[in-house]
Amino acid sequence: MNDNAPNDFKRIQNKANIVEIIKTYIKLESHGKNFFGVCPFHDDHSPSMSVSPDKQIYKCFVCGATGNVFNFVENYLGVSFLEAVKIVADKIGENFTIKESREDTKNKKYYDIMNLATLFYQNNLRTSAGKEAREYLHNRGINDEIIKDFSIGLSLMENDALYKLLTKKSIDKKDMDALGLIAEGENGIYDLFRNRIMFPLKSPLGKVVGYSARIYNTTSNSKYINTRETVLFKKRETLYNYNLASQYARQEKFIVICEGQMDAIRIYSVGIKNVVATMGTALAKEQIQLLKKLNVKVIVVMDNDAAGELSTVSLGQSLLKESIDMGIVRLTGKKDPDEYILTYGVEAFRDNLRNPMSYPEFMEIYLRKNRNLKNPTELTQYINDVINMIKDANDEILIEVTLNKLVDEFHLDKELLKSRLKNNEAVETVKVVKEEKAENTTKIAKTTSKFNKAFKTMLYYMMNDTDSMRMFMHYHLNLPKCKYRLVSNNLLYYFELYKEIDFADYLTFSEEYEDVREVVMEVIRDVHVDEFSIDDMEAVLLIMKDILDKERIQELKREMKNELDVNRKKRLLDEIIEIKKGCVKNGRD
Ligand code: CTP
Ligand code: MN
Repeated sequence: MNDNAPNDFKRIQNKANIVEIIKTYIKLESHGKNFFGVCPFHDDHSPSMSVSPDKQIYKCFVCGATGNVFNFVENYLGVSFLEAVKIVADKIGENFTIKESREDTKNKKYYDIMNLATLFYQNNLRTSAGKEAREYLHNRGINDEIIKDFSIGLSLMENDALYKLLTKKSIDKKDMDALGLIAEGENGIYDLFRNRIMFPLKSPLGKVVGYSARIYNTTSNSKYINTRETVLFKKRETLYNYNLASQYARQEKFIVICEGQMDAIRIYSVGIKNVVATMGTALAKEQIQLLKKLNVKVIVVMDNDAAGELSTVSLGQSLLKESIDMGIVRLTGKKDPDEYILTYGVEAFRDNLRNPMSYPEFMEIYLRKNRNLKNPTELTQYINDVINMIKDANDEILIEVTLNKLVDEFHLDKELLKSRLKNNEAVETVKVVKEEKAENTTKIAKTTSKFNKAFKTMLYYMMNDTDSMRMFMHYHLNLPKCKYRLVSNNLLYYFELYKEIDFADYLTFSEEYEDVREVVMEVIRDVHVDEFSIDDMEAVLLIMKDILDKERIQELKREMKNELDVNRKKRLLDEIIEIKKGCVKNGRD
């Protein structure tokens, strides 16, 4: 919570007239006691928002947006509550200063240390020790002004240069450790960042909370190493350059989101300052909320490779779910926005920003890639994927348009699609293409699709969550040979090596195994889970176990039928009984 006195809010609210304040943003016309205007919080052209001078509130009859004068400013400008209070206060000539919240005061000590470290790194870059790093940056077209804007620095070759400096300033090593700056090894304490270019990661308010550190004159397995989760650095809440970009985004009414900090820096430095970077990972709920708060269109410009395409799919889906207006840009010819701008120039890049695809347009192309829609199975997959995509949308028109397109193109029954959308079930090939097939085939197809869905969900859990990984190992499923098993084996291997699961890191790891990689992409594309609950993981494992058990029983029964040896027959029967017991134990038939 903040430490500003509630009295301040009251004083300012009493003095401000909500009608006058809102009028500075949108047109209001008086009508009887109240004022009316076009609601800025949903897409509309008729005056659906009323503002009451008596009650000092606004209310939209269509979308239900409502609140007081501060809430209006907060939502209209996408600023925090305190910022909104400050803006209103300024408008009416009242005094108001945003005091640091208790949280900030508590963390002040930590912020100060990060500040010291950042100054140290920045200074290193200016000394003779930084000559090579400076050259590297200059060669990449990063001049001193950009270096300053982004507080870029350099960690030194020495083992413990930062540790020594901070110790001299009487900083407790416990605090350095809590901030992820040092570690303790066999030969004593050492700096975690050595001989790397330091890109500070900042909170939305611009305070340094961590670093992303790049190699520049050496080779290493990890091009970047980043601060782990610390008292200050929460990956879920950080978007690179958000602190600088937010104000420009509000001015320009859109924000660009790219993958790498180097891309964000390049885009920013050629004058498009409303840009943030994801730093190579899928976005968490908190990061999506940061974008949503801006209340502007989000233009997604990920790298021009398969991973970038996948990030686009997943980020687009999250934005769609949150009803955030978006545009999709896919660059061609160069690896990422940085190289694209360096090769083709900023105007070519701007052209792309001006002509983005809609998310459904992008998905249509994406989902059709490498699929032969004349083949019933592939067509079914395609239709299921399209339905899965719009499932999350809160936009009825989008849903209607998309369904109509499917109906027209593939001569499907719209009611069927609608019911599938509601029931969230896979569309069966048989029904869709109206090809009569034996009931048995349908049954097998259904089981297979259920099993594959469970398998994919399970893999997604394993990729994201160490506990789920452990649970998988505990269950010891006898998995059939299939493409999904490639991934579970690969995950087991990764887990064996690193003893924990880091989603982003696993993605990098799996890149080396082409077959695995393809399936990993499929899993990420098809599974959408925000929160990982171990109970859900267990439920999925039980579904899989159930199907596997039933299949095994069928197989044993077949063997029994053909077996002439009575003893062997009995052993087969025993196995069936054992499996059935296991099912009972798990509370199923
Ligand atoms: N990343 C990371 N660790 C790695 C590789 C990448 O944390 N080992 C993150 C970084 O935040 C990086 C982003 O993922 O900015 C995108 O990776 P990549 O496209 O490989 O880097 P670039 O942004 O292109 O960086 P550069 O141009 O400096 O190579
Ligand atoms: Mn790059």
